[in-house]
Amino acid sequence: MKIDFFKHNIGTKEKRDVCKVLGSIFLTTGDAVREFEKRFSKYIDRKYTIGLMSCTSALHLSMLAYGIGPGDEVITTPMTFVATATSIMHAGAKPVFVDVEPETGNLNADLIVKAVTNRTKAILPVHLYGNMCDMRKIKDIADKHKLIVIEDAAHAIEAQRDGYKAGELADAVCFSFYATKSITCGEGGAVSLNNKEKSDLIRKLSLHGITKGAADRYVGRYRHWEVKMLGWKCNMSNIQASLLLNQLANIEKYRAKREEIARKYAEAFSDVQGISFPKVPKNSKSGRHLFTIWVDPRKRDKALRHLQTKGIGAAVNYRAIHTLDYFKKTMGYHTGDLPVAERIGDSTISLPLYPKLSAKETDYIIKSVRQMK
Ligand SMILES: Cc1ncc(COP(=O)(O)O)c(C=O)c1O
Repeated sequence: MKIDFFKHNIGTKEKRDVCKVLGSIFLTTGDAVREFEKRFSKYIDRKYTIGLMSCTSALHLSMLAYGIGPGDEVITTPMTFVATATSIMHAGAKPVFVDVEPETGNLNADLIVKAVTNRTKAILPVHLYGNMCDMRKIKDIADKHKLIVIEDAAHAIEAQRDGYKAGELADAVCFSFYATKSITCGEGGAVSLNNKEKSDLIRKLSLHGITKGAADRYVGRYRHWEVKMLGWKCNMSNIQASLLLNQLANIEKYRAKREEIARKYAEAFSDVQGISFPKVPKNSKSGRHLFTIWVDPRKRDKALRHLQTKGIGAAVNYRAIHTLDYFKKTMGYHTGDLPVAERIGDSTISLPLYPKLSAKETDYIIKSVRQMK
């Protein structure tokens, strides 16, 4: 049997929508992007959304918009994809890694205060695997120390905890529509927020800092435009947005299917010695982005090979990023500094989890995991 690690949900409707855009003259940022931003804002319950090229750009521009830059420190987690940390560095600030909770792999809110210095400007929590961090605790700390909160919800569009959606307790929340995310256009991202001034600023920063986007410049008569600040180039195109619209309409249906598969995995592995997995926190709705199992670190790579030999696509999300060469070299981190994240990073294996995964395939994966030694 061959089981892919991921399969997207792009079908006939998405193909029809993208063909409609391709048949028009307007391929870049225009009506489809505006429609997506409107519908996404409604879904996520924020006033404004800016469609972008990636979550990395959403994080980077959010930090710039909130004035985070050289000399500032941003507290974040080492148990994430490197983009969380590199976007802090792109803004000119320094990521400060705080260890994670052993049960979830999420940033440990109880350790944040110890890491706050007079340079700390923001907290950047990541909702790993789709399970939300303790945002009420994080928001309390942020309020007490006057810190900005920018959430990395690349895994957690659909998530909720304690009655709050991803982003509801933050200044800005960033999403990814990368190839393996729960809705995807290959590469894409967005930031959602309630602050109009910051939202306008992020939009401007995403398009060279100029005063008019292509839709304003070229529809009807040509009008002059100005450059008001140094900006970047990471605006979402109509092609990307058209791929996302129908997936967004089905996002809860897809999540429900992943929930079903994740529960089946959880039940099947609950009595297997040597295998544990992250807990979904109480009062939570998980985004169910990834299902990872944790095995003995000494056996992890062998277990990965076993699954791959069985034809099962498996991955590692993630090795603790402060142990990767660049962060060690440039920031002086050492193995041993953040032991919980390191242990999780050395134990973790992500299994296939997507709506198209059949019951037969799920059973085969469970059987193969049970055979791991
Ligand atoms: C937790 C997390 N943050 C940020 C990113 C970056 O997303 P993008 O590839 O859209 O820039 C990813 C992508 O995999 C991610 O998993």
